[in-house]
Amino acid sequence: MTQKSIENYAALKRSVYREYSRSYDEDRDRFVSGQLLRQVADRTQGKGVLVGLDLTPDMLRLARLELGGRVNLVEGNAATGLPFREKSFDVVTSLNLVQELPTDAVTPLFDGVYRILRPGGVFRAVIPCMADKNPAADMFRQMAQARGLMDFRYSDELEKLLISMPGFGEIEIEFRPSTAAANAAKGSVRFSLFSDILADIKNEGLDSGQVRQGVIFFSGRRGTDT
Ligand SMILES: C[S@@+](CC[C@H](N)C(=O)[O-])C[C@H]1O[C@@H](n2cnc3c(N)ncnc32)[C@H](O)[C@@H]1O
Repeated sequence: MTQKSIENYAALKRSVYREYSRSYDEDRDRFVSGQLLRQVADRTQGKGVLVGLDLTPDMLRLARLELGGRVNLVEGNAATGLPFREKSFDVVTSLNLVQELPTDAVTPLFDGVYRILRPGGVFRAVIPCMADKNPAADMFRQMAQARGLMDFRYSDELEKLLISMPGFGEIEIEFRPSTAAANAAKGSVRFSLFSDILADIKNEGLDSGQVRQGVIFFSGRRGTDT
C-alpha cells in the first residue's frame, strides 16, 4: 500500500467505526461479541500484561471505559505492522479484525503475529465471513467492500488461506453460522451499514435472505524458528 492509500484506508475505517462506536455496546450481543479482553482481565487478576490494539480512537475509548487501566490500549494499524517487540506475547487473539484488512495484508498480519509470539505461543482468531455463495451474497461482499472496506470472504476460501499460514502448527479451523446478517435485516441493530446494504440488495431484485454469514474460529501454535 502507498502512504496515500494507507491514509485513505485508515480515514474511512475510522469514520465507519466512529459511527459504529455510538451503538457498539448495544449492538454487539446481536452482531459481534467483543468482551474477550474484559473476561481475560477478570480471570488473570493483574497477573501478566494485557494489550489491546485498534485503529479507531472512538473504539479504544469504549474499551477504556470498560477495562479501565487493566489493559494497555494502543492505537495502531494492523495492516501496516504490529507495534510490539519480537517474541513478547504468549497468546495473541484477533477478534473480528481480519475482514477489515486489505486482502494483501492478511498474510503479513500472520507473519507479524509469528514475530511477536514466543515459540510455542498460541494465535486465536475469530473471523466473520460469508456462509453461502450466491448472487445476493456476492453483492453484499461488493457493497461491504465499497462502503466499509470490509472483505467478508467465502468460508471455504478463507479456510484455504488460513490452513496455509506459514509458521503455525496444530492448526484448527471451525466454521459456525452466525445471525449477523439476519439481525441486520430485521433492523435489530442500530449501526445501519449492513441493514442499508441488505435493503439495497432487495431493491436490486435479489433475495437478501440469501445473505448468510458465518464465523471462522482459527487456532494455531507458533512453531520454533526455522
Ligand atoms: C467489528 S469491530 C471488532 C472490535 C473488537 N475487536 C470486537 O471484537 O468487539 C472491528 C474493529 O477493527 C478495527 N480496525 C479496523 N481496521 C483496523 C486495522 N487496520 N488495524 C487495527 N484495527 C482495525 C476497527 O476500528 C474496529 O474497532
